[in-house]
Amino acid sequence: MIPETTGPAAVIVLAAGAGTRMKSRTPKILHEIGGLSMVGHALVAARSIHPRQLALVVRHERDLVAKHLVELDPDAVIVDQDEIPGTGRAVEVALQALDAHQELAGTVVVTYGDVPLLTGSLLAELVATHEREANAVTVLTAVLADATGYGRILRGDDGTITGIREHKDATDAERLIREVNSGIYAFDAAVLRDALVHVTTDNSQGEKYLTDVLGLARQAGGRVAAVVTEDRWQVEGANDRVQLSALGAELNRRTVEAWMRAGVTVVDPATTWIDSTVTLDEDVRILPNTQLHGDTTVARDAVVGPDTTLTDVRIGAGAKVTRTHGSGAIIGADAAVGPFTYLRPGTVLGETGKIGAFYETKNVTIGRGSKLSHLGYAGDAEIGEDTNIGCGNITANYDGEKKHRTVIGSGVRTGSNTVFVAPVTVGDGAYSGAGAVIRKDVPAGALAVSLAAQLNSEGWVLANRPGTRSAELAQAATADSSSTQAPTEEGKQ
Ligand code: UD1
Ligand code: CA
Repeated sequence: MIPETTGPAAVIVLAAGAGTRMKSRTPKILHEIGGLSMVGHALVAARSIHPRQLALVVRHERDLVAKHLVELDPDAVIVDQDEIPGTGRAVEVALQALDAHQELAGTVVVTYGDVPLLTGSLLAELVATHEREANAVTVLTAVLADATGYGRILRGDDGTITGIREHKDATDAERLIREVNSGIYAFDAAVLRDALVHVTTDNSQGEKYLTDVLGLARQAGGRVAAVVTEDRWQVEGANDRVQLSALGAELNRRTVEAWMRAGVTVVDPATTWIDSTVTLDEDVRILPNTQLHGDTTVARDAVVGPDTTLTDVRIGAGAKVTRTHGSGAIIGADAAVGPFTYLRPGTVLGETGKIGAFYETKNVTIGRGSKLSHLGYAGDAEIGEDTNIGCGNITANYDGEKKHRTVIGSGVRTGSNTVFVAPVTVGDGAYSGAGAVIRKDVPAGALAVSLAAQLNSEGWVLANRPGTRSAELAQAATADSSSTQAPTEEGKQ
């Protein structure tokens, strides 16, 4: 492994806040957009600049957040904030935890766990500017039409940054400033460490403000500068569910646009939702009203949609998946699925195979060229190659207590409405008759039929359903057919 020596000393992601405006039992930063939690997006951006250490500061719902972090990024360090409130205190406890291993030197980046659209490239630009200009602090700022609530960037006559004033502490004149603090910064580790000692809780909110570090760094003779981004989405946090959905829609718009630029046809971007974890090849076509989630991958020339929702599904080149709901499935090259098909986990469809309309599948491996064209259920089964499963076939895999397997060979032809009562095996090249109930293994090449003699009870309808339309028509038909043998009075011209 090549050691990453170019990244910053650390990224500290702040996530101790309560997020009460979400009105949720789920911690704010665990809410998802684009298939990933907000903190997940923050971690992806942080990791992309290859920090030597990554810390997440937690307090509110700390156990839930910590559990999530272990799943997402087991190498990240969890730091518990104490009862002293404020972003300054959050960074201070993180720095103390990271310094415990070895005192940090160089660049320390601070980001938020609830700013999901921030990209690694903007973070990299922040770090590059910070290091190129040898700044003590470089803050990411944006100029907003409505700056209400944000900390305002204070600049001197020559434009140099003199400090940040929190909205609640600002004068009326300061509140007119539209350049805001994003809360994302690059610090020199030593400057940050020294300044935080002097940050007090002497403000309207009684918190240790991280923003006070800027003024203190300047007083200590350091350079304080800004990277101003034109892209307000990258610094926007989600405090409630309205903002969450706005950020989710914008993230999706960006994801879909990026795939179109990479050679994917998206017929209707407005109704196409693609998680940031999905991978698409060139010349894939996505038809309207399609949602692709999780680890879904789609290979070249495949067509997906319309009206299709897939989670963790792998689609081979040239396959067609129409009006399908699926998860945990693998679809081979040039295979066809749908319309109205339900693929459940463990479905593996071979190349050029087919799972057609109104089919449900689960834990089934279907060989190359085999077709399950209409109306049925295939579960806990293995089907060979070039087999044709007739209309309405069902694997009866569940005896009420346990699941059992059905094994069907290659080149098999099954009649409509065949039921496989598992465990059962059907040999290569075997056939089954319509309505067969397969309870015993079928040898290769055999025809299996379930013989239950058909009984026609003549005249039953007239006798048991007199006066009905059926009876009326039956009577007419009986009269007609008898007329061909012995013409009735009306039949004689
Ligand atoms: C903060 C900034 C403000 C900036 C704004 C951008 C300060 C003092 N103010 O304000 O200048 O414009 O962000 O959104 O820094 N957090 C902790 N521990 C705490 C408090 C907060 O980890 O004790 C975390 C929160 O989880 C959140 C982030 O820090 O991710 C910002 O906290 P928040 O309360 O939203 O800060 P603001 O007051 O909005
Ligand atoms: Ca905030």
